Amino acid sequence: MESVHTLDSHPLVRLWLTELRDERTGPKEFREHMRLISLPLIFEAVSDIATEEVMVTTPMDVTSGYQLSEEISVATILRAALPMVEAIQQVIPSAPIHHIDMHRDEKSLQPIWTRDNLPLDCSGVCWLIPDPMLATGGSVIATVDRLKQRGATRIKFIGVIAAPEGIAAVQDRHPDIQIYAAVIDSHLNGIGYIVPGLGDAGDRLFGT
Ligand code: PRP
Ligand code: URA
Repeated sequence: MESVHTLDSHPLVRLWLTELRDERTGPKEFREHMRLISLPLIFEAVSDIATEEVMVTTPMDVTSGYQLSEEISVATILRAALPMVEAIQQVIPSAPIHHIDMHRDEKSLQPIWTRDNLPLDCSGVCWLIPDPMLATGGSVIATVDRLKQRGATRIKFIGVIAAPEGIAAVQDRHPDIQIYAAVIDSHLNGIGYIVPGLGDAGDRLFGT
């Protein structure tokens, strides 16, 4: 199975991505468009989640329906992924959300891991890692390293914009990870930002 999935041929994804890229888009609209663009990415990422048949009683009859038979957990990298988490909670309310307080050192571009509330045993569930920007890949790789150390075997990354350099780095270290992104951009610039990208996602989201 191909491990990188993009959605940039979808008209609505193109539209919402344009809003996110536009430097005139303020924090309120930025947050809303990031939440919206996350929805089709989430649908795609969980399209192979296991379900089982259950019976459901309608006002008219009893018929068959479905429930999830595989648990989904979320490991979210603060802070720019927060609107993506809102979208996950909207469509998969049963998924527990675990936060990872991590940021990229501006000079070295290395991820600085401050704290997290991941469970000690991460086995037996499908993990989603939302983060809008896959730049060098350092933040995602550190997260996947930690999840795997704690037993996770099924992990999917959900991003908005991915750089080819970040995809290559993740695939090199973790070839089993499925990557879902709205679009793959051109390249990283000299200070580790995605070009054309959308700038600093956290800053644009929170107006900092
Ligand atoms: C951004 C982004 C990712 C990381 C990607 O976070 O949300 O977590 O950079 O870069 P990488 O692929 O090179 O690791 P940032 O460190 O800017 O923190 P913030 O979300 O708190 O602004
Ligand atoms: N983080 C961001 O927020 N934007 C980038 O372009 C790269 C990393």
